[in-house]
Amino acid sequence: MRRALRFGRVAVVVVLVPVVLAPYVATSCSSDLGVTVQRADAVTVPTPSPTTLPEPVTTDPVESTDPAGPETSPPPGESPDGVGDALYPSLGNPGIDVRDYDIALTYDPTGDTIAGSVTITLAATADRAEFTLDAVDLTIDAVRVDGADAAFVVEPEELRITPASPLVSGRSATVVVEYHGAPDAGAGLGLLSGWFHTEMGSYVLNEPDGARTWLPSNDHPSDKATFTFRLTVPAGITAVANGALASSAPSPDGGTTWTWRESEPMATYLVLLLTGDYQVIEGESSSGVPLLSVVLRSDVESVQPCIDSIGDQIDFLVDLFGPYPFDRYGIAVTDSFGGLAMETQGRSLFSREDLVPCTLEPIQELLLSHELAHQWFGNAVTPAQWQDIWLNESFATYAQWLWLAEADVESVDSAAGTALSLRAQFGGNATGLPGADELFGYNSYDGGAVVLHALRLTVGDEVFFTILNRWAAENNGASRTTADFIALAESESGLDLGDFFATWLYRRVIPTEFPAPQ
Ligand code: ARG
Ligand code: ZN
Repeated sequence: MRRALRFGRVAVVVVLVPVVLAPYVATSCSSDLGVTVQRADAVTVPTPSPTTLPEPVTTDPVESTDPAGPETSPPPGESPDGVGDALYPSLGNPGIDVRDYDIALTYDPTGDTIAGSVTITLAATADRAEFTLDAVDLTIDAVRVDGADAAFVVEPEELRITPASPLVSGRSATVVVEYHGAPDAGAGLGLLSGWFHTEMGSYVLNEPDGARTWLPSNDHPSDKATFTFRLTVPAGITAVANGALASSAPSPDGGTTWTWRESEPMATYLVLLLTGDYQVIEGESSSGVPLLSVVLRSDVESVQPCIDSIGDQIDFLVDLFGPYPFDRYGIAVTDSFGGLAMETQGRSLFSREDLVPCTLEPIQELLLSHELAHQWFGNAVTPAQWQDIWLNESFATYAQWLWLAEADVESVDSAAGTALSLRAQFGGNATGLPGADELFGYNSYDGGAVVLHALRLTVGDEVFFTILNRWAAENNGASRTTADFIALAESESGLDLGDFFATWLYRRVIPTEFPAPQ
């Protein structure tokens, strides 16, 4: 056996129930972000929605020529100020492909304010006399394009920029935006995302559209870029972001500037940014993946068992899904409310309420394995549009089931059976066609993982895991659509899976029995 049994077989049925905007969770808990675990029998059963069979999504496959290059063509119906995302039409900015963000921000924890600049290196994908960036509730102080002052207009959701010389398709441009603001995600309504203040500092949770509330950016998962973060905070406070710690040095104002570099293409929704009394803990998994975690200084000892468990989880998922896709991994444990968990690239974000103390109980195993699995599914290969969210959440949930079976919590058959039976009761839109308020709903998580279980039974274990390996490896660095996944599944299996996906992915009401195993 790979590892010692950490806990006995538990009788509790573990169901990952996203709390955000989940109208079906009548027993909804107080937290309004992230995920929580409920006993299946605690869920109140709403009336199922009527059966309809919507048209499958037919977005064209996207091209990716270089790792941080153009990843997608806008779906049909492009709006002038967005890239045609069906659920978030104003996200993304036509005509630009960001290659790199260099962010220099000073955070004042007393006033909860940020001030600084972002330098965006982009390639124009069209000739444009003006272009936009996604920016919400920020004060823009100046914009320069290739060193020259640019005219700009601040709209509710867009920063509209008219450079002195137009953008020319295929050429690169450097855009500097100086800005300041007091972003406060906690003050919002509905699905909270953006910059959060805590008692001891701050964190960001951007998915799906929070980045634009603190960073003028091309805030859409179809555009991945590399990032440098130069974060200045008062002396004695640590600032953390994705990637490698390049330096920490005194700043002219008496504070400390922490510089982090994420050199692997990343979507804006995967940015990690923390400030507080953090300690950086480095290590290496037994298979050689460098580990860098950050934990509040007071929690280091009690989180250590979670940190120590990462290596085994990585090895297990590497066996199933192929090489770990990034330079390093780790966990970041912040002082947010419980239930928050986010697959921030290369270093997943958790709440200390969930991981302190770390005793590796099932909910902790669930959260840790779920966010780790996203590094393959969501982070290496990223959805081309938000309606493809099942490519993230259903896949991470399936991987979490595999881990929980390995850890002797519950077999995959049992988890899948429960999820399938609850699926009928939850209703909601089809897994492949969520509404904006269902991105993190049941049919994206456990209710969508049943689609993968049905696929596995249909194509057989060997083909199934080859599909998942190829999906992560061949698309690492790119953003892809559901149509791309279906095409891969068909070519690898040699089967026409049109009926399969029409039934399991695009129907609101799916079969009550899994297909017979092949
Ligand atoms: N992607 C996260 C997860 O693994 C959920 C993020 C939900 N987003 C939010 N703004 N609460 O499950
Ligand atoms: Zn997830």
